Amino acid sequence: MGICGEVIAQLPVPACLLREGVVFLANRAFAGLTGYRPEELDGRPWEEMVHPGDRPEVASLVSGQVAEGVFLRLLTGDGNTVSVRCHAAVLFDGDQKFLAIQAVDVSDLRRAAEDTAQRYEDLLHNISDIVHVHSLEEGRLLYINPAFHQLFGYRVQDWPGRPIRDLLVPRFRHLYGEYARKLSENGHHQGVMYLVDAHGRERYIEYHDVIRREGPTAVVRGIAHEVTERVTRARNQEQMLDGITLAMADLVESRDPYTSGHQKRVAEIAVTLARRMGFPPERLRPLFIAASLHDIGKISVPTEILSKPAPLSNLERQFIEQHPQVGADILRRVPFPWNVATSSFATTNAWTAPATLTAFRGMKSIRNPASWRWPTSTKP
Ligand SMILES: [Fe+2]
Repeated sequence: MGICGEVIAQLPVPACLLREGVVFLANRAFAGLTGYRPEELDGRPWEEMVHPGDRPEVASLVSGQVAEGVFLRLLTGDGNTVSVRCHAAVLFDGDQKFLAIQAVDVSDLRRAAEDTAQRYEDLLHNISDIVHVHSLEEGRLLYINPAFHQLFGYRVQDWPGRPIRDLLVPRFRHLYGEYARKLSENGHHQGVMYLVDAHGRERYIEYHDVIRREGPTAVVRGIAHEVTERVTRARNQEQMLDGITLAMADLVESRDPYTSGHQKRVAEIAVTLARRMGFPPERLRPLFIAASLHDIGKISVPTEILSKPAPLSNLERQFIEQHPQVGADILRRVPFPWNVATSSFATTNAWTAPATLTAFRGMKSIRNPASWRWPTSTKP
């Protein structure tokens, strides 16, 4: 048997000794693992003991170079398989060369991994969210789950390999570059994308994407769900709010022919300045609303005073000077998502209280935007 054979035979863990790819000796633990008697294994080609699907792995095992081990399914005496992780080492006994193989039973681990994979597969097939994988550099879709068909009507099998950009609404396709840049910079990105479904309708999805390295390439994995209804509702609400704002502005100005169109011009100037000063887009809308309504307090000033062509008396002037506070009080009662009352008060009251302009944050060089049109109107 030689010293190598004796060592293998005494090992308490499953192990065998191969010579020229054939089992020379298998110990009791190995025989027990595979369901054979030890002598039944003698002379058996190793490849025949491995499940046909795993035979390509045998070469790397036999080379003895795989440090982390090779996962194989061994065929057992009762016609089943047992999953093992094998390590191999080349041994010499005199002038004879052997390959010693140690096998660790990993059936439980493999079963758990298969269960997890199956559950993951079930989840991907049944969730209503879209799960996708695409290559970062080329932007080509690598995988997308069946929810893609259910939500957008496309055949799932038609899309792997196609540019993800093809899914975007044409007028927004140029935004893909910015999306990819932010994703690369941060490693993750989330937002809303505008897609076209299989019937040519625009649909909106909210996505959360992350970059993962798979070998030398970077892939993007993401999950997305449809928000078309939410986006449409929000847009309708915005339009309704705009409509109400303009109607209120018109109502105030209809009482004061001297300043017709004044609030609209102030709003345009305020937004233009804010944009040039680098305000983020989400801050422009509240500014527009506040500026459009900055004179709403005039509703409390009698029309005779607003349209009086002669100089104002002290009492009349007090009426005028109170209108910023009245306006702020009115707007404060409206549940805007932003602090419109303060911004509006700051705009209107600037001519009597310049410090309130701090509400404009950074617009300090413009002491009073409303005054820009004063040469053609006599009242603030
Ligand atoms: Fe004004």
